[in-house]
Amino acid sequence: MRVMYLSPTGQLGGAESSLVDILASLRRAEPSWPLHLLAASDGPMIARVRSLGVTAEVQPFPEAIARLGEHGATASGGSTRLAAQILLASPAALRYRASLTRAIEAFDPAVVHTNGLKMHLLAAWACRPGRRPALVWHLHDYLGGRPTTTRLLRWHHGQPAVVVTNSASVAADAARALANGTRVVTVHNGVDLDRFSITGVRANLDAMAGLPQAPPNTVRVGLVATLARWKGHATFLDAIARLPAHLPVRAYVVGDAVYQTEGSQYSLDELRQLARSLGVADRVGFTGFVHTPEATFRALHVVVHASTEPEPFGLVIAEAMSCGRAVIVSNAGGAAEIVEPGVDALVHAPGDAGDLAAQITALAGNPDLRARLGRAARATAERSFDRARMAAELVPIYRTAAAAGGPAAGAWQRGAGDEQDAR
Ligand code: GLC
Repeated sequence: MRVMYLSPTGQLGGAESSLVDILASLRRAEPSWPLHLLAASDGPMIARVRSLGVTAEVQPFPEAIARLGEHGATASGGSTRLAAQILLASPAALRYRASLTRAIEAFDPAVVHTNGLKMHLLAAWACRPGRRPALVWHLHDYLGGRPTTTRLLRWHHGQPAVVVTNSASVAADAARALANGTRVVTVHNGVDLDRFSITGVRANLDAMAGLPQAPPNTVRVGLVATLARWKGHATFLDAIARLPAHLPVRAYVVGDAVYQTEGSQYSLDELRQLARSLGVADRVGFTGFVHTPEATFRALHVVVHASTEPEPFGLVIAEAMSCGRAVIVSNAGGAAEIVEPGVDALVHAPGDAGDLAAQITALAGNPDLRARLGRAARATAERSFDRARMAAELVPIYRTAAAAGGPAAGAWQRGAGDEQDAR
């Protein structure tokens, strides 16, 4: 079966890493399927995908579309600004849709799998219900809190043959938000259990952060995330500031701003400034973006997940557990689905720096607890997070969608009234 993937970015955030894992597992399960990725910006994802034997092209979003974003827009200007941005973007969106349509025609897929909100909409404009290709929306994030996007998606609810979500929590939100009986199926993320392993190269986080080497008994505690504001960097730094001064802890902020969306992310400078104002500048290292997160996880004794809003899934949690780390998870959303508190991870209340500081303190002083949690985490990962499961679950989804998507290869054509239909 020919499957085409549409990604709004070629950068490697969580949704894109998940897509790379899907492609890797499908490559193994269905080696004869032609798979093709179209990404709307260049980035490390492209080379990763090509190395799997998947063809890839970049069709950059026009600036007006690239900068559009609802998440964070409400805080910094409200939905009026967003509506204005959408209007400004629409001629660009029409042009982009036309080039997307040509790219889809050229590859002639049975299924188009979209991996981000902008691509869900653009593909819904480019594909027609009941016709080849069938459309699969893969939701990695909640729609609640994005009313404008939700309204736009609802207009197109007839288009996707199926909506895939990364957790039951996101599925419940999607069913509520779309409210139109669209088929919603959960496929939890998987990881590469060989790459995210207990033993292997460990990153030198001190060198990466430009800090002097920490003494040998130092407990390394890190937040590994993009710099999206809801990932909880402020909570993490606040928790570090509350740790007893004698605890031999060094903290690391691992990651950088990877998305182009306006207003949704911290800059590293902002976070450095925050660390200074909390008086923890000498206790915190900033590594920037890392290309080998597995080596980073192995260098950390404790991996912190601190999202202040419910986390749709939390790929870094699964990756860190697969590396046998002791993980502290912000206990909400999809993240709460994938850990068993006290058994394979510890949890804290989202946004509660005092609670997070207490969990870090408990782990910093107790290497046995860290080891026990780490062993259980790896066992959970082997049971639940093997990425081979994703292909096993997606193949029947694609087959059903393709069967609903109309006649076989070559028969898909642009609808006659295409341009007039553009909304
Ligand atoms: C998004 C979600 C994150 C999830 C990832 C992969 O980035 O915010 O929770 O792990 O997608 O599904």
